[in-house]
Amino acid sequence: MTLLLKNGRLVDPSQDIDGPMDILIRNGKVARIARNIPSPAGKGKKTDNGTSILDMKGLVVVPGLIDMHVHLREPGFEYKETIRTGCEAAAAGGFTAVACMANTDPVNDNRSVTEFILREAAASGKARVYPVASITRNLEGKILSEFWDLKEAGAAAFSDDGRPVTNGSVMRRALEYAHSLDMPVLSHSEDPTLSAGGLMNESIVSTELGLRGIPAAAEEAMIARDILLAEYTRTSIHICHVTTAGSVRLLREARARGVAVTAETAPHYFTLSDEALRDYDTNLKVNPPLRSAADMEAIREALRDGTIDAVASDHAPHALTDKAVEFDVAAFGMVGLETSLGLTLKLVHKGVLTLPEMVLRMSLRPAQILRVPGGTLKPGSDADITVLDLNRFWTVDSGSFRSRSRNTPFQDMPMKGKAVMTIVGGRVVYRESENAS
Ligand code: DOR
Ligand code: ZN
Repeated sequence: MTLLLKNGRLVDPSQDIDGPMDILIRNGKVARIARNIPSPAGKGKKTDNGTSILDMKGLVVVPGLIDMHVHLREPGFEYKETIRTGCEAAAAGGFTAVACMANTDPVNDNRSVTEFILREAAASGKARVYPVASITRNLEGKILSEFWDLKEAGAAAFSDDGRPVTNGSVMRRALEYAHSLDMPVLSHSEDPTLSAGGLMNESIVSTELGLRGIPAAAEEAMIARDILLAEYTRTSIHICHVTTAGSVRLLREARARGVAVTAETAPHYFTLSDEALRDYDTNLKVNPPLRSAADMEAIREALRDGTIDAVASDHAPHALTDKAVEFDVAAFGMVGLETSLGLTLKLVHKGVLTLPEMVLRMSLRPAQILRVPGGTLKPGSDADITVLDLNRFWTVDSGSFRSRSRNTPFQDMPMKGKAVMTIVGGRVVYRESENAS
C-alpha cells in the first residue's frame, strides 16, 4: 500500500522543516519527503500501480500528535470509557498515540493488565497505546510494582497518577530502579496533607464560593521534593499537569542547574482560571485545580519558553452519574482528547506559540520524554501523521464525541483549526469529510 500526500505544508520540528513538501508512504513508513514527488500515472485518486494520492492543498501535515497523559478507564470503568472508545476519540482529536494511566480496576500493576491494554488497542487499530504501569502495587504508595516484568510486558512508563507517591523513600527507589531500566517516571506531584478535602484552587474565589481550597503549595512542595530526588539520584523525572507560577519557577531553577526534569500541562490550565468556577459547573472540577489568572499566564509563558515541554490532555472521562451531583461529591477530571488540539491552537492564533512550537509540545517532546518512536517524519520512521486544517471553524459539541463520556466544560466553545485526517502506520484511521461536525 502506497500513499502520496501532495501539496501540503509540512511542519516537522525534528527536521527543522516548515514549508511545502510532498510525502510518500510505503509499507507503513515514510519513504520519501521532497518538494515535488511526481504522481505515478494520471491524476485520479488511485493510480494504476496502487498509489493513493491525497491532495493536501491548504492543509498542514505534521508528525502524529501524541497525548502522553490520558485515562482510558478499562479495565474496570467501562461505563466511562473503553480502550476502543478512547482510541476513537484520540484519532478524531488528531492523536496517533496516547499513554494511558494505571488507575484502572484492577490497577495496571501486573503484566496481565498491561498485555490486555495492548491487545485491546491493537484490536481497535485507531491509535498506538502506551500503557503506563503503576509505580506501586495497587497505587498504595508502599511496595514497588514489578518494574522489570511490566517493562517486558510492554509498559512504557511508571506512574501512580491520580495519587501522589508520598513516601520519599519509595519514590527514590522508583527513580533508581526505573533509571536502571531506562524507563520514565511520571509524577503526580501533590502533598495530600495540604490538599486534603480541597475542591478547587485556594484563593479569594474559593473563599467567596465557600468551597475548600487546594493551595498552590500542595503542588509545589511535592514538585520540589521530586526535583531534589531526581537531582540526588542523578536520574530523570517527568512532572504531570503543572498548574502554578511557583511550579514553573521551581522547574526553571532546576533546569538551570542541570536537573533532568521535564514537565507537561493540560489545555484547561492555560485556557481557564478559577474564576470560571463561579457557576459551580462540576465539569470544571479537576485535580490539580484550575488556578489563578496569574498562574494561567505563567503556564503560557512556560510553554512558550520550553520550561514546560509538553501539552497533554489528562483526558479523564466520567459518567453523568459521577458529575451531575453536588460539587463536593463530584469526581475530579474532564475529557480532553477531542478538544486538546483546538484549545492549543488558540495559543498559536494568539501568537503565544508558533506552529512548529506547538508540534514540538504535542508530538516530538512527548515521544522523547516517553522514549518511544514518533514525533518525526524523517524517512524510515513510522507514517504516523496528523493533517490540520488551520482555518476550519467548528463548535465543541460533546454529543458528537467519540469518547464514551461528555464531561467537558468547553461545550459550545467556538474553535478555529482541526485535525481533518489522522494516519497511523500509513493507514487512514480518521477522516473529517466522512465525519463532518
Ligand atoms: O482530575 C483528575 N482526574 N486528576 C487526576 O489526577 C485523576 C483523574 C482521574 O483519573 O479521573
Ligand atoms: Zn494526575
